Amino acid sequence: MNILGIDIGGSGIKGALVDIETGQFASERIRLVTPDPSTPDAVAKVVKTLVEKMAYQGPVGAGFPGVIQHGICFTAANVDEKWINTNAEKMFSEKTGNPFTVINDADAAGLAEVRYGAARDVNGVVLVLTLGTGIGTAIINDGVLLPNLEFGHLKIREKDAEKRASAAVKAKKKLSWKEWAAALEEYLLIMENLFWPDLIIIGGGISRNHAKYFGYLNTRTKIVPAQLYNQAGIIGAAYFASLTHAQSTP
Ligand code: BGC
Repeated sequence: MNILGIDIGGSGIKGALVDIETGQFASERIRLVTPDPSTPDAVAKVVKTLVEKMAYQGPVGAGFPGVIQHGICFTAANVDEKWINTNAEKMFSEKTGNPFTVINDADAAGLAEVRYGAARDVNGVVLVLTLGTGIGTAIINDGVLLPNLEFGHLKIREKDAEKRASAAVKAKKKLSWKEWAAALEEYLLIMENLFWPDLIIIGGGISRNHAKYFGYLNTRTKIVPAQLYNQAGIIGAAYFASLTHAQSTP
């Protein structure tokens, strides 16, 4: 079964058809620019365009960079604040005519890594971090995800961790790999002392460059790059929609 997965990010809205059996893309990936301001209406328009470009009809899974409970968005750190209290599932479904399932973007990436990637068959606690515009966090214990953990907003010297160590901060402050890795390491040491994970998976676009900075990260915990790199968000959202759809289909 192929399902359309969409990853809504602070800078891009990306989508592809995903083969749920294998976790592989079953189409080309389309990337459209996130509108600015990224209001619900403006984002929904881009999502509609993406669905149309795919010429797709059927269930859609979308990852969103905020807390999502039962389809409703409750936080908006890196998107327009009008998202707060918006029923994203209902809005996307109505705008596109396809049934949407919406999940936090880091949770989507975490699910994808568990089902198809670096956390597959890993026993114990896995911490998945997505480093992009913000820092997304997901914790999976023996394959079970605890949703909506927001540890990118953990305070380090009174400032959100994501304002110190996200990929966007590296670009904005023009930090070298070494300088940025020092900020990331500080965050990782705090996280590993709080959660004692068995494995840390680093995702987001910057995970492709892992060879440039993993060497600077001196953590107790083993760290690996996301096996699905930046595609985990799309794949996990599609996978999550397949689970939801399977439950609601008699
Ligand atoms: C948001 C999270 C999101 C993360 C990555 C954070 O600012 O609060 O919900 O998972 O960014 O996009």
